[in-house]
Amino acid sequence: MKKINIAIDGPSGVGKSTISDFLAEKYNMSHLDTGAMYRCVAYYISKNQIDYTDESKLQKALENITIRFEDKNVFLNNEDVSTSIRTNDVSMMAAKISSFAPVRKKMVSLQQEICKDKGYIVDGRDICTCVLPDAEVKIFMSASSQARAERRYKEYVDKGIKIDYKKILEDINKRDYQDSTRAISPLRKAEDAIEVDTSNMNIEQVFDCLSQIIDKVY
Ligand code: DC
Repeated sequence: MKKINIAIDGPSGVGKSTISDFLAEKYNMSHLDTGAMYRCVAYYISKNQIDYTDESKLQKALENITIRFEDKNVFLNNEDVSTSIRTNDVSMMAAKISSFAPVRKKMVSLQQEICKDKGYIVDGRDICTCVLPDAEVKIFMSASSQARAERRYKEYVDKGIKIDYKKILEDINKRDYQDSTRAISPLRKAEDAIEVDTSNMNIEQVFDCLSQIIDKVY
């Protein structure tokens, strides 16, 4: 089997990360969750109360950050932050700081370095357009904001967590707006990416659909 990279972009809550994990298992590839990297930066900035609007402070913070993946865990300066970066506050902060040029520059070059020998399924917002424009497979996953909010709501309910559906939908719309209107590398479908609208699909259907796309190249 030839070694390829698979790039998957899409908005928050569309299920990119879950499906990338499944696909990585099926095709014996590694999954690089680039959102987790922006979350690490956001977590570091919040924890150390860094004024990220001050360019020299932001630059210094970025120099002090190392991010490492090991199995399914992510380490920020050798601390396992896999769970702490998943809070709503970190999500909102990640959407903010990912619009800053020095942050994107560092993350993109780290991601390109990690994937240079191929064999990666990379999910994010700018993978097809900016990080890996030459990836052998380029997919854009979409779903209506309502469908994504409903899925997230169900996840919370299944875990026994009480949450307001309206608030989830509001947050999704807010993050969509931030991700797609930022000046640098906004979320958009690359012209040559294949769009898969998952609004009316369950996880198995999404998995089958993406597998068919990958099998044509693999
Ligand atoms: O996919 P996620 O929710 O874990 O991503 C967190 C934030 O990081 C999201 O609001 C946008 C940003 N992000 C980005 O700008 N570019 C990427 N390639 C991945 C994520």
